[in-house]
Amino acid sequence: MAEAYIKGIGTYAPQRVMTNFDWEKLVDTTNEWIIQRTGIKERRIAAPEEVTSDLGAQAAKEAMEAAGVSSEDIDLLICATASPDTILPSTACWMQPKLGLEGKPAFDISAACSGFAYGLAIAEQFVRTGKYRNVLVVGAEMLSRMMDWKDRSICVLLADGAGAAVVSSEGGGGRILGSRLHADGTYAELLWLPAGGTKMPASHETVDKRLHYYIMKGNELFKIAVKSMADVTRELLEEVGLSEKDIDWIIPHQANIRILQSLAKRLRVSWDRVVVNIERYGNTSAASIPLAWDEALKDGRIKRGDRLLLVSFGGGLTWSAILVEW
Ligand code: UT7
Repeated sequence: MAEAYIKGIGTYAPQRVMTNFDWEKLVDTTNEWIIQRTGIKERRIAAPEEVTSDLGAQAAKEAMEAAGVSSEDIDLLICATASPDTILPSTACWMQPKLGLEGKPAFDISAACSGFAYGLAIAEQFVRTGKYRNVLVVGAEMLSRMMDWKDRSICVLLADGAGAAVVSSEGGGGRILGSRLHADGTYAELLWLPAGGTKMPASHETVDKRLHYYIMKGNELFKIAVKSMADVTRELLEEVGLSEKDIDWIIPHQANIRILQSLAKRLRVSWDRVVVNIERYGNTSAASIPLAWDEALKDGRIKRGDRLLLVSFGGGLTWSAILVEW
């Protein structure tokens, strides 16, 4: 099997910044509660004229530039999102003409906050088998349009953003050492969007009951998140013959700063080795890992040879780990 590399990364965050103080004016919450319970201080909210594929296309363009590839070089476009432009067609198809990729295969994957890592793992397989040379993986979310702005238990957490990576058979960035994916659908209703599919088609009643928004049992998710992410990390480390001591940076899905602190403790990785930017972006689901990763690359924290653990957890439930040597 050939090697698979991360050749370049790009991100896009909408311009509008919404602070906890802005939320104080809209729901019964406080800046203190949000910071203490989640670590979030502010987040980005997309402009009314933007859609998810716009955010994704911006990030994808930056990733292609960073990788030094053009549209002609891309063989496949994968978009991970839990907030698609439309149910049909896929957000990847909406995004495709914005990137000059017409005719190239394009599809969405639905793995919620683990979507970007799932996308990387799928791309990795296509590259390792030699089927494709360059796969563009995008994690794009506009959660602000899918959440209930009156539900304080979720609206203060979620936000908008996008990240992308070019997974390639040629080196230049990071080498993927291995990937491990998991899901457990028995917990589906811990984080879901009930209406609008075949289970509960859209009707006046579903709209009146506010069933077209995400519903989350945050407390229950919290406990499973820490254990799942630690377990999948250990499985992957064992598979590739490494240990926790070999991890230079944890780049986790940014769901809650307390989840990340507990994870670092469980893995016995020091807190200053965890890339955290939740305070500025909130939870951007499939976009959160690339948003954190790109920041740590651009500010020089990540050095050549560093081993990076990308680890995520989200609705499905889904969870995953990817190891990259930069
Ligand atoms: O992205 C991947 C999937 N998502 C996650 O992994 C999220 C995991 N869960 C979490 O991050 C946390 O559980 C939350 C941040 C969602 C909630 O924090 P918590 O410490 O678990 O709070 P809680 O749900 O136990 O609620 C504690 C209290 C409740 O009031 P009572 O019943 O104690 O009076 C809530 O009603 O906090 C109340 N509360 C709020 N208060 C002020 C809930 N949301 C808010 C709010 N502002 N925004």
